[in-house]
Amino acid sequence: MAHALQKPSESPVLKTHPRMTFRSGQFLYEIVSDGTQSVYRVTDGKETLDEPILYAFGNAHVAQTYVFRHGGKLLEGRVSYYASIDGLDWTVGDALDPPPDLEEAAGRDIDSDEARNCFSCHGTAALANGRLQLDPLIPGVSCEACHGPGQKHAMAKLLETGADSMIFNPKTLDAETLSQEFCGACHRGVDSVAVMPDLGGVSNVRFQPYRLFNSRGHDAKDPRLTCTACHDPHLNLGQQDAGNDSHCKICHDPGTAAQTRHTKQDKSAGAKRREASSLSTKCPVAGDKCMSCHMPKVEVPGSHFQFTDHRIRIVRPGEPYPY
Ligand code: HEC
Ligand code: HEC
Ligand code: HEC
Ligand code: HEC
Ligand code: HEC
Ligand code: HEC
Repeated sequence: MAHALQKPSESPVLKTHPRMTFRSGQFLYEIVSDGTQSVYRVTDGKETLDEPILYAFGNAHVAQTYVFRHGGKLLEGRVSYYASIDGLDWTVGDALDPPPDLEEAAGRDIDSDEARNCFSCHGTAALANGRLQLDPLIPGVSCEACHGPGQKHAMAKLLETGADSMIFNPKTLDAETLSQEFCGACHRGVDSVAVMPDLGGVSNVRFQPYRLFNSRGHDAKDPRLTCTACHDPHLNLGQQDAGNDSHCKICHDPGTAAQTRHTKQDKSAGAKRREASSLSTKCPVAGDKCMSCHMPKVEVPGSHFQFTDHRIRIVRPGEPYPY
């Protein structure tokens, strides 16, 4: 997450791709980098609009989107880089086919509210007195974004709870607050998805706290099912063992369940906890690779990426995506 926002000169994608192009109708898009700066350029054959890129959003695990200034406005580039195609395509949600005019074709005006949100989730200390400040901004989700002291609106409330210390330890949060409010401040918890039109459609697969919360039979308050049970936020996804079966077997282990039954007579607090912690429900289908079936991959249209559905469930063939 440290690379969620980058200066163009620090973006590995831009460094290794000195010229990227994309064509739609008469419009030709080009992103050209020379090591010191990157330029976002669109031409319709007659006129050309080009602007230096201010920031690259995303470490390109999925995609990277470019933001630049034009005529005093911040614009989100209509085209983004996608890792799986190693090239440019329409930015998710921004496709205009064909675009009506050069300025519309270049980028989408992200009004001040929206830009504030983009930089707050992808950067640190983006706001001063509620206003977007690009100068003191620390690109990426830095230590401070999660451990304070921060100016971030989303985290500010949570940080107050650790007011006596300058360093906030998220370990002190209860399980539900950690997943839904702390990680959910950026990854979007159940409350923020509930107010979205159509609950965000299939795109809500990107809102892992919401998906996890609605997993049938799963208690969002159980610390064995928080975000940090499977993810270490200090490591890149590739360095984690998020998909390990042990994350499921900690509860769904018939072996442990049998053991628990033996201790049923002993009603000490410890035994009760053990009883509650292991289930006799055994998968009738397989004994390993649990998440490959129960957390299926779902393609978000236009993203060139299959996200992991965090709504843990039995997937029946032909069943529609549950919202
Ligand atoms: C301040 C906003 C913010 C908070 C808080 C936050 N994330 Fe993220 N997270 C992001 C952004 C933005 C990305 C996209 C990353 C990128 O492009 O590098 C991301 C990406 C990720 C990824 C994908 C990893 C990767 O390397 O691409 C995981 C897993 C993740 N976050 C888990 C968590 C967990 C667990 C928590 C809570 C402990 C959390 N995040 C809290 C903003 C946040
Ligand atoms: C509410 C917080 C939030 C806001 C606002 C937000 N993002 Fe993100 N963004 C995330 C999180 C969390 C992820 C990682 C999970 C995912 O890919 O959906 C992410 C992922 C991305 C990715 C893919 C990153 C990768 O590693 O592949 C891009 C590109 C991106 N965002 C661009 C933007 C842009 C541009 C804006 C503003 C127009 C924006 N985001 C607004 C939280 C946010
Ligand atoms: C996306 C949010 C996020 C970011 C960014 C982040 N941390 Fe953490 N950090 C956490 C969470 C959540 C925990 C608690 C993990 C747990 O429950 O075991 C934690 C725990 C820690 C701990 C252990 C505290 C303890 O009591 O065991 C240290 C040390 C730490 N972080 C340092 C850092 C440093 C240094 C950075 C920047 C390089 C950083 N963190 C960035 C979320 C984050
Ligand atoms: C039971 C384990 C588990 C839990 C709990 C879990 N995740 Fe994941 N998560 C995964 C797996 C597995 C992947 C896919 C990893 C890969 O592709 O390498 C993943 C992927 C992700 C990604 C990358 C985008 C994608 O869809 O591949 C993000 C972001 C993420 N998780 C955030 C979260 C957040 C936030 C929470 C808490 C609400 C959470 N996860 C809880 C297992 C888990
Ligand atoms: C914190 C304990 C816990 C963890 C961790 C956990 N589960 Fe569950 N799971 C439950 C409980 C409780 C139920 C409710 C049904 C029951 O009593 O067996 C359940 C139900 C289920 C169901 C049936 C859902 C339905 O729609 O009927 C499936 C499938 C499942 N879990 C798979 C998994 C997988 C796969 C993982 C790992 C990604 C996992 N679970 C992790 C506690 C857990
Ligand atoms: C090949 C796909 C697949 C894999 C891998 C898999 N499951 Fe299942 N699982 C299923 C299907 C399908 C069902 C529904 C069976 C039925 O009701 O007909 C199911 C049912 C379940 C149930 C509900 C059982 C009940 O009696 O209600 C649980 C719990 C479960 N699986 C957990 C797991 C765990 C834990 C793992 C990993 C150790 C796992 N599954 C691996 C496909 C799979």
